[in-house]
Parts: sequence; C-alpha cells; structure tokens
Amino acid sequence: KILILDFGSQVTQLIARRVRDAGVFSEVYPYDVSDEFIRNYGASGVILSGSHNSTLEGDSPRAPQAVFEIGVPVLGICYGMQTMAAQLGGKVENGLVREFGYAEVRARNHTALLNGINDFVTDEGHGMLKVWMSHGDKVLEMPAGFKLMASTDSCPIAGMADEERKFYAVQWHPEVTHTVQGKAMLGRFVHEICGCKADWNMPDYISEAVEKIRAQVGKDEVILGLSGGVDSSVAAALIHRAIGDQLTCVFVDHGLLRLNEGKMVMDMFSKNLGVKVIQVDATEQFMGHLAGVTDPEQKRKIIGREFVEVFQAESAKLVNAKWLAQGTIYPDVIESAGKGKKGQTIKSHHNVGGLPETMKLQLLEPLRELFKDEVRKLGVALGLPHEMVYRHPFPGPGLGVRILGEVKKEYADLLRRADAIFIEELRNTPYEGAAMPGEDAPANWYDATSQAFAVFLPVKSVGVMGDGRTYDYVVALRAVQTQDFMTAHWAHVPHSLLGKVSNRIINEVRGLNRVVYDISGKPPATIEWE
Ligand code: XMP
Repeated sequence: KILILDFGSQVTQLIARRVRDAGVFSEVYPYDVSDEFIRNYGASGVILSGSHNSTLEGDSPRAPQAVFEIGVPVLGICYGMQTMAAQLGGKVENGLVREFGYAEVRARNHTALLNGINDFVTDEGHGMLKVWMSHGDKVLEMPAGFKLMASTDSCPIAGMADEERKFYAVQWHPEVTHTVQGKAMLGRFVHEICGCKADWNMPDYISEAVEKIRAQVGKDEVILGLSGGVDSSVAAALIHRAIGDQLTCVFVDHGLLRLNEGKMVMDMFSKNLGVKVIQVDATEQFMGHLAGVTDPEQKRKIIGREFVEVFQAESAKLVNAKWLAQGTIYPDVIESAGKGKKGQTIKSHHNVGGLPETMKLQLLEPLRELFKDEVRKLGVALGLPHEMVYRHPFPGPGLGVRILGEVKKEYADLLRRADAIFIEELRNTPYEGAAMPGEDAPANWYDATSQAFAVFLPVKSVGVMGDGRTYDYVVALRAVQTQDFMTAHWAHVPHSLLGKVSNRIINEVRGLNRVVYDISGKPPATIEWE
C-alpha cells in the first residue's frame, strides 16, 4: 500500500484516487504523523502532496524525517518536491512570479519515472510533457545524489531524481487530469518503482469487507438509517450480504422525498434484495412542525431534529440492536477526523444521517475507506441498479430546501411532479458534447450534469391557457456541473430540452403556469436555493 502525506493541497485526495485507479490501495494521512507511525505503517512507497505553504517560511511543514530513512521509494509533488529538496540538503527559492496552469516540460536523463512517456517530441528530438503547474517557490539546488529529471524555461529544476535511493520529485501535479500523462506517471511510480501489484479490485474488496463485518458484529443485531441515497444504500447492501437478517433498516419518509422515491427504495431493498426494512411514514409529523416556518435555517433544524426523533423512536423498538451502521465514506473521514485539516477551505458537513451519540450503539461504517466512485462501483458489484447508484446527490432535508419559505404538502406534490419531468427529459436527451480528459463521455444530459432539480417558488403569476386566464405558481429549474460541489457552473443544457420540459410541466401539472431556468453560478449563489 501507498502512504500519502497531506500538506494541505486541495487535490491531495485526487492522488489517492489515481493510485487506487492504478489498482493499489492508498491512504491519506496528515504530514505531521510521527516517525514511529511512518516506520510501522508498512508502506511500499510514500507520496508527499502539494500545499499552499512555502518551505521558506520559518515554521512551514516538513515530512517526518523517517520517510527518507525507511528505504522505500518517495515521490514529492510540488510542495512535496520542495520540502524533499530542503530536507535533504538542497535549496529552494522564492520564484517571485507564480506559475499557474499549463506548462510544457522537457524530460531529462531517462529516469524510471518519465522515460519513454512523451506528449510530443520537439524538432531537436526532446521528449516533452504537457503538465499542470501551480507554484510560487521552486528548487534552486538539488540535494546531493540527485540528477535533473525535467525542466522548463522558467523552472530549470522542474523534476529531480535520486534513482539509487528511489526518490523522485516533480514540480507539476500528476494527479490532475490536465497533466496528460499524469496517470502513467503515478502508475509507473506505484508499479515499477514501488513494486506494488494492481490487486485492489471490487470482488476481492467485497469478500474482505464481508469477513470484516462478520468478525466485527458477530451475532449482534445492526440498525441502519436508509435514506435512498447512494452511501446508505450501498452500506445496506454490503452489510446485508455479510449478516443477512441481523440487519434492520429504518427508512424515514419525511414527506419531502422525490416522486415515487419511497416505493422505489422499498421495492429495491425489501422486495428485490430481501433486506428487512421498516418504513415510517412521518409526513404528518414533519408537515405539522414545519407549518408556518419560513426561515431556511430554522426549517433545516426542524427537519434534522424530527428525523433524529423518528429514527430514535423506531430503533428503540429494536431492543437487541448493538450497532448503528452508517454510510460514512472516506472523504467524510478525512474532513471530519481532521486528516484534511491542513487545507484552507473545507466543506462543512451537514448530513441529516449524522445520528446521536446518546443512542449507546457502536458504530459500524463499512465504507470508511472508499471514495465516492468506489462506493458506486461497489454498489453495482453488489447488484444495485446502475441508475440508482449513479444518481445525483439529494440533500438530507430533501424538498424542504427546494420549497422556498413555508413548506406545505400541496407545494411538495406540485414540485415532485415538475422535478420528475425535468429529470426524465434529462435522462432521455443524449449528450453530444466532449468527454473530460481520461473519462468516458456521458451518455445523456442527466449524466452530463452533477445535480439537477426543480425548485418551488411560492409566488403566483398570470398566464393564459386555452381561452382562459391562469394565476398559478412558478418553478425554477436548476442544473449544475461541478467536481466538488464547492464551486459550480450552471449547466448549458440545450434550449430545446428546456423548452420541452417547460411545455410538459405547464401542460401536465395543473397549478404551475411558468417555468424559469436558474443561470447563477456558485459562488455567488449556492446550488440549493435555501
Ligand atoms: P449548496 O446549496 O450549499 O449545496 O451549494 C452543496 C451540496 O450539498 C448538498 N446539501 C446537503 N446535503 N444535507 C445534505 O445531505 C444538507 O443539509 C444539505 N444542504 C445542501 C446540496 O444538495 C449540494 O449537493
């Protein structure tokens, strides 16, 4: 396995993703773990991430010295290269100008990392690589034992290697897709240089995870809050595979789910997979508490609180349960356990599924090591339908944050139908744009957007239908494209598609007579309207 030490770069997680894509298990830890941790971890190789820090500042972060003493290959990326240089006796200088974006680097000296991978060859016969750079400082002098591995005009030491000790360092970011050969570079590092086999795959993972769950819970009973979202669904399927009827799921319907969602969840889990699911229809209770409340934060609090209450009441009936299972995934772990604390901005986590400590249950979190795309692959491997596993994310408070102001059942019913029409048309419209580098082209507009939904606006406007005047509500359509949901662009979905959706909504949903499209990015807007 590969150990990645995080110095706070925004893209550290991507390194782990790419290494796992190469079939090698890898984990991210903060840079300030102890020497002892490094010696005991059992890494076949170590990768030092980038950072927004400068090695030239007095108290800037350093890798534990043990990293360079345990005899395994090390790859320094950007800041990781600079700290490697500084710690091994080289020199780093302030570059004065920040270099940011595409660069063409010349590969030198036929190192094991770069030899034979070029994006193009110059007239003089130099092998060149198109890479993505983002740095201010740069290495001025290499430490003893290193040779030049790559250079650019503005950064003469853009890569260096000590092939004796198997230390490699690059100033660019091989983990981002803009570095065309990035995958090949990381692949070479883990396979050829570290000698790791590509044996991290889903079927093996499932059998290991199943064994682990069995060993962990023994004969105990487990409860799980099923929301219909990807993470809790995959966790349920995996745990059910391991312990069958020892698992009971509680599915709370707060009346703010999408069209037919409750039925879909029950059909899939209860009917198809044979999982024990207790469905609780708490619509009345939620609507009751939400009546008259218009403040968005207050609405969120009420929904969160009621959810916990209903869940607790239901699980209290399962007197033998000793474990509470949750669909916590690796990015949640990194964010909340402070592993990613070194970064500058971290998304605040707001999940209604985050349940109370007062329940005195032990936590079972079988997806803790997985990234979202791995969770999806696992879901498919466990037999969940592709369509549900590749669904857009849906917020815990559900339609509660998509009905502006006071929530009413009447509004939720209108919104559900409009939303379903929008989603159906997105799914049915083929996507003809280009794919992201290194990824498959999306088949349709649903897959080409990261999140899409309708929002209910509790204002009425005048319309005309047939010969009659209408005076009805408005819905807004929102579709965004984003990598991390922290920033997002509004999606340029075709006008013909929007036109069709608008026609269908107004014709099919009595009570709505106007449809608008949201063209705000995040920032300054957020993805949800509340
Ligand atoms: P915003 O609106 O903040 O949303 O741009 C970013 C992402 O987070 C989702 N979201 C939530 N998810 N509980 C959740 O589980 C919540 O309370 C919540 N609020 C927003 C939102 O759908 C988007 O994907």
